[in-house]
Amino acid sequence: MRAVALAKRPKGALTADCFTLVEAPAAAPQEGEVRIRGRYLSLDPYMRGAIDEHPLHGAPLPIGAVMPGRVVGEVTDSAHPDFKPGDLVRGDVGWRAAATVKGGALVKIPAGDLPLSWHTGVFGGPGLTAWIGYAVVGDPKPGETVVVSSAAGGVGMVAGQLGRARGCHVIGIAGGAAKCALAQSRFGFDEVIDYKAAPDLAAAVKAAAPRGVDFYFDNVGERTLDAVLANLNVRGRVALCGHIAAYNSLGSPDVGKRHYRDANSFRWRLQGFSVRDNADLWPRATAELMALAQAGKLVQHETVVDGLAGAGQGLADLIAGRVTGKAVVKLA
Ligand SMILES: NC(=O)c1ccc[n+]([C@@H]2O[C@H](COP(=O)([O-])OP(=O)(O)OC[C@H]3O[C@@H](n4cnc5c(N)ncnc54)[C@H](OP(=O)(O)O)[C@@H]3O)[C@@H](O)[C@H]2O)c1
Repeated sequence: MRAVALAKRPKGALTADCFTLVEAPAAAPQEGEVRIRGRYLSLDPYMRGAIDEHPLHGAPLPIGAVMPGRVVGEVTDSAHPDFKPGDLVRGDVGWRAAATVKGGALVKIPAGDLPLSWHTGVFGGPGLTAWIGYAVVGDPKPGETVVVSSAAGGVGMVAGQLGRARGCHVIGIAGGAAKCALAQSRFGFDEVIDYKAAPDLAAAVKAAAPRGVDFYFDNVGERTLDAVLANLNVRGRVALCGHIAAYNSLGSPDVGKRHYRDANSFRWRLQGFSVRDNADLWPRATAELMALAQAGKLVQHETVVDGLAGAGQGLADLIAGRVTGKAVVKLA
């Protein structure tokens, strides 16, 4: 059975030669353990931070270590009373085709008629992240104006659809005409700004939101954040979800005009958050996201890499903006 390990640390833009395939057998489970075969691996931006020499959190992943990541898979053998062969599960087992882990490290996935890969996205970390950004930080009311950056990405597509479901006026920001068209046609954004074609992004946001922005779901940071802050209303909220625009240059200074005097004058709330801090909310979030999907109000668009051998290139493509929707590796 195969896995993907870190071969070398990236310098600047991520490249596929930072990763290497290794043999990683999954042993027969001992008491309390479960062996799973992976069906889908989720590729996520935090992985870029984990291998950087200046990681976002903690120590950098050692060279030679198997890459971290969440897998959706199927139980093949079980020595744990709560799991049986055929059960569908998800767990943070890393970039592995198969793994043997403690049963407590796995969460069962209810059988249903929606695609299994959606548990990497709209029902996985990205969906929970978007839901928590809305519930804990923004809580926008019907008729309010919401802006979402990386609108055609894994978190952004859910954030757009949640805004739509709440009856908000939802404006997306994405790179390129194809992503903008997808965000409008599939994710229900009322309007989408192509930031790559906007010479003055703050002016483009102003044109799209003439009454100002009430809630900004920020996936990107940097100049996009600056442009939206220039249009944030009194008592505006910003969910500081991620700053992917800087992930290839972590460790270098943060630059920009962050309008912090306005934050005081206009009583803004800018709040960073982590989906991991809010595990108590996951069951409620999952139930609501699944109900929306069952009602046809939440869909996943995905870019699928076939097999572990392409996972490194897939992550490089994700960080560089060459992926549309949720980035997924099909394992089996
Ligand atoms: N707080 C949390 O708990 C939490 C949890 C999960 C994810 N996150 C964060 O949420 C954000 C979105 O995650 P995701 O999984 O949905 O990834 P994603 O949005 O699918 O990520 C890839 C997209 O980021 C955009 N991007 C890359 N470089 C950019 C730049 N310089 N300027 C503007 N946009 C750029 C690209 O879209 P365009 O082509 O449109 O530029 C690219 O397609 C990330 O920042 C991630 O770290 C946070």
